[in-house]
Amino acid sequence: MRPESLMMSYGYKPELSEGAIKSPIFQTSTFVFKTAEEGKAFFELAYGHRAMEEGEELGLIYSRINNPDLEILENRLCLWDEAEACAVFESGMSAITTVLLEFLKPGDLLLISTPIYGGSDHFIRKILPKFGIQVASFKVGQQPDTVIEQVKNSGMADKLAMVYIETPANPTNDLIDIAGSKKIADYFSKPDQPVYLAVDNTYMGPLWQHPLKHGADLVLYSATKYIGGHSDVIAGACLGSHALIKRVKGLRTFLGNMAGPWTGWLLLRSLETLKARMDIQAFNAERVAAFLNTHPKVEKVYYLGNLTEADGEQYQIRQRQCYTNGGMISFDVKGGEKEAFKFLNSLNLIQLAVSLGSTESLAEHPATMTHVDVDPAHRKELSITEKMIRLSIGVENYHDIISDIEQALACID
Ligand SMILES: Cc1ncc(COP(=O)(O)O)c(C=O)c1O
Repeated sequence: MRPESLMMSYGYKPELSEGAIKSPIFQTSTFVFKTAEEGKAFFELAYGHRAMEEGEELGLIYSRINNPDLEILENRLCLWDEAEACAVFESGMSAITTVLLEFLKPGDLLLISTPIYGGSDHFIRKILPKFGIQVASFKVGQQPDTVIEQVKNSGMADKLAMVYIETPANPTNDLIDIAGSKKIADYFSKPDQPVYLAVDNTYMGPLWQHPLKHGADLVLYSATKYIGGHSDVIAGACLGSHALIKRVKGLRTFLGNMAGPWTGWLLLRSLETLKARMDIQAFNAERVAAFLNTHPKVEKVYYLGNLTEADGEQYQIRQRQCYTNGGMISFDVKGGEKEAFKFLNSLNLIQLAVSLGSTESLAEHPATMTHVDVDPAHRKELSITEKMIRLSIGVENYHDIISDIEQALACID
């Protein structure tokens, strides 16, 4: 069965919860053991002191280690990405930072694509160096062989421990080749020192791009976005092999940044409509982009559906990696900040707010909001200028979204 058919029931046993059709919120800090022997056995497994026996499962111990709402959620999230295992977190940032801290150590080199989400960029460039971790970066369009040469010439090639990418890039929709990034990671991998590839897949959600199929070792999500989808919860997720997620969960236990049962329950509810919501969002985005493409007050539209064969490699990556053109559109208005702000202040239906992937359409100004912390020269190089607006397309009737954009554009002098 397809994941969308399983989101209502998979991994939940009503007979363990008085027949309740939906999983209750297991708002409990700890779990009662039937016997001391059972408690001992659970702890042996939780701390990896012995291997799991045939048919044995990790029992419930304490909600910082595991909780039914989180376990059901993790099992359901695995279905979309066809991952072996998943760990959920109280925010996207805690998923990202836990992965970086688990797989990097002092002296290591981390290679990242640019641009990446501002919060991830801040942690990587400003906090990781305090722990002696060096950072190198590559740009959209740079070929894997060139990046390999760049790392070799840095004199730190033997220290490379992780390649971290985000694709499509926020807010420009530029694409990074996942398989190409895996090639870079593999080139520097040694049997005793593997180089892992981690991909932040937030912008495409678990439906529209499956990085594990293109060679990623770990997939990361801000579950605040499409997975949560209602702008009412902050959460994160990381997926990958049993072995890697065991390590991620190990550190999560001691950082204590797992999601709580209430967050887990909210996300279970959100997952039931994930496919339906995202289908509508992609459908609406195509229509909104088509409208913007021909509007006289719009200078340029940044949307995956606008890529053509003439765009060369970007188009090829789109065809290989993405199942749809997504729900995110950026565009440049003719003019600058004054015109962009006039547009934003004139919207009625579309809300002026950061974040993305939710049921309501959102608009924001990357240069002064989400990307204000990016060095101005670098921002310009990335085409994030004063005239750019970022739209996250929601599930409203697309005629209404377009009418709102049309009347707001008309307000610009
Ligand atoms: C691409 C991307 N990754 C990670 C995050 C961080 O997620 P959270 O806000 O859930 O901590 C965000 C948040 O905007 C994001 O856009």
